[in-house]
Amino acid sequence: MDLFTSSLNLPTAPAKQTNGKSTPSRPRIIVAITGATGSILGIQAILALRRLNIEIHLIISKWAEATIKYETDYTVSNIRALADHVYTPTDLAAPIASGSFRVLGMLIVPCSVKTLASISSGICDDLISRAADVVLKERKRLVLAVRETPLSTIHLQNMLAVTQAGGVVFPPVPAFYIRPDGVGDLVEHSVGRMLDLFGLDVEGLERWEGWKRD
Ligand SMILES: Cc1cc2nc3c(=O)[nH]c(=O)nc-3n(C[C@H](O)[C@H](O)[C@H](O)COP(=O)(O)O)c2cc1C
Repeated sequence: MDLFTSSLNLPTAPAKQTNGKSTPSRPRIIVAITGATGSILGIQAILALRRLNIEIHLIISKWAEATIKYETDYTVSNIRALADHVYTPTDLAAPIASGSFRVLGMLIVPCSVKTLASISSGICDDLISRAADVVLKERKRLVLAVRETPLSTIHLQNMLAVTQAGGVVFPPVPAFYIRPDGVGDLVEHSVGRMLDLFGLDVEGLERWEGWKRD
């Protein structure tokens, strides 16, 4: 654990490694950050998963590295240090490229329309699209936080194809009913709702409970 990680006061990830055959000691999720704007959503998702003691398998695309640098104060190595396992997008021999890898599912946040297109057309030419393809074929949870606006017919058709294949398209559209104090609140709420889709309950997530009366 480096200084950055320890300063966040997060639970320490056990060093125990599991191979593909053994039962994982902690639930696992694959997280991919791609080159759409909103890399902070991916970073906050990783922090929330750590608090939930989920084993994180992380892939950061080349263009995500650029947006992280441009949009946030985090470095790519800071973010890698938060994951239990890190893979390069070109590593098609990684354990997560196989259906024999035991995992709850995969979250791509933010998800570019390029990665959406790769997944919807089944082109598995990098580890992000391959791992997503595997998650779909194994009938596990796949959540794509697709970030683009406005949307073309191509984007919408690709979203429909992924949804029909069992994926969940979750554009990070803000919920203003939480009366946010700022962007941080909106990011936190979106991430909490994404993790709901894996059956994970983020502590403190504000939920709609009907009109509040005085
Ligand atoms: C600053 C910046 C912002 C971008 N924002 C978006 C975006 O919101 N949505 C999108 O689909 N692509 C966006 N792109 C383009 C993607 O980075 C590009 O299509 C890239 O090929 C995506 O590859 P990846 O999915 O492997 O990361 C952006 C690029 C840059 C440099």
